[in-house]
Amino acid sequence: MAKKIVIIGTGYVGLPLAIVLARAGYQVVGVDIEENVVNAINQGVLRLAEEEVKQIFREPRVRENLHAQKTPCPADVFIISVPTPLDEKKRIADLSQVIGGVESILPFLRSGNLVILESTVPPLTCRQIVAPLIEKTGLKVGESIFLCHCPERILPGEVFEELVNNDRVIGGLNAQAAQMAREIYASFVKGNLYLTDDVTAELVKLMENTYRDVNIALANEFAAVAEGLRVDILQAIELANKHPRVNILKPGIGTGGHCIPVDPWFIKEVNPINSRLIHTARLINDEVPYKIAARIRQTLKEIKNPRIVAVGVTYKPDTYDIRNSPALKIVSLLREDGYQVAAYDPLAQGYQYTSLGEVAKGADCLVILVEHQVVKQELAGKEIDIKKVMRHPLIMRFYPQPEVTT
Ligand SMILES: NC(=O)c1ccc[n+]([C@@H]2O[C@H](COP(=O)([O-])OP(=O)(O)OC[C@H]3O[C@@H](n4cnc5c(N)ncnc54)[C@H](O)[C@@H]3O)[C@@H](O)[C@H]2O)c1
Repeated sequence: MAKKIVIIGTGYVGLPLAIVLARAGYQVVGVDIEENVVNAINQGVLRLAEEEVKQIFREPRVRENLHAQKTPCPADVFIISVPTPLDEKKRIADLSQVIGGVESILPFLRSGNLVILESTVPPLTCRQIVAPLIEKTGLKVGESIFLCHCPERILPGEVFEELVNNDRVIGGLNAQAAQMAREIYASFVKGNLYLTDDVTAELVKLMENTYRDVNIALANEFAAVAEGLRVDILQAIELANKHPRVNILKPGIGTGGHCIPVDPWFIKEVNPINSRLIHTARLINDEVPYKIAARIRQTLKEIKNPRIVAVGVTYKPDTYDIRNSPALKIVSLLREDGYQVAAYDPLAQGYQYTSLGEVAKGADCLVILVEHQVVKQELAGKEIDIKKVMRHPLIMRFYPQPEVTT
């Protein structure tokens, strides 16, 4: 008989995973505390804007093998994929949902079960938080319950492609746990599966996003220096990257999304003394939206009660994901200052518009915060017409190069 897998938390990470496991032939139960998430799954409605995942979700085998409910039930494998947000005051991981998720499965655990934590967590979480919770049942981790951390690397917008083709790191509290988890991931992953211990896996996931954050901070810092010197930063980066061992990233309006602005804090949390560079990079990237808002204010200082239209609210170009978006931070900073700001985005739900010409009517400044391909194309063809309908024909572009045209 096919193994039964319970997935706790069916959001961006848990639901696509549930779908590919159901397609691989497992009997999958998606558990979510949100009733509308559960109902959507059972009604066959996929709320993620991921075309390939949508198609697989419609396959009869998936519809047959996957169902959702609000509470867990007995199974062979439990996978936990609940949010691990940053506690904004303390700047440490808020593990309350991981603890809640683990506690919810305790009554159903039985000898021989595998528990996999997919949520991104600070190092030592599996050993020091999850294992002791499990052992409250009297079952011993490593002997009768097998525990692993298997971090997720998917990119919103490319979830199916990345879920299947990315290499994965599987960190077991012991070798048997890692082997058991390998069998599950081998059912749908075409990339390599690397087995290690739990703490290494926890740290590896954080290192990946911290690497990105620190390198983006470096690019942002270079951009600020170049601006003071009136040097074109993009040209400077292009020339520096002609060096065979240099690959500088592009500066932007700050970092966003679910992982990059959050995960580096989880490293600092466990070892602040040795996280000085990581901490500084976080501060540099978090400062960028303030600098951009200041630049917009400066540009508009001669206009009384300016009407600003901001375009692009996602955390980067060509995605629909608005989580921790620096563009939205800029919009809210300007609104807090009393500016009238209307925000639009062709890809983000709730922010869509008919045309740039339509939303720019009567505006004093069109601020392009995130330049999706579709925005770029529309601007390229219609910039002159758009300016004609504005009260002041001012367009500010920030990605990839700060620029003001009138
Ligand atoms: N989204 C990404 O691109 C991404 C990529 C890599 C890693 N991660 C990590 O994966 C984890 C999950 O992130 P996500 O983006 O899927 O979050 P999400 O908010 O999209 O989904 C999490 C789901 O868990 C549910 N939930 C919370 N507590 C629960 C409980 N006790 N029982 C059942 N359901 C519960 C929520 O209702 C929600 O539907 C996080 O640690 C995140 O950092 C996310």
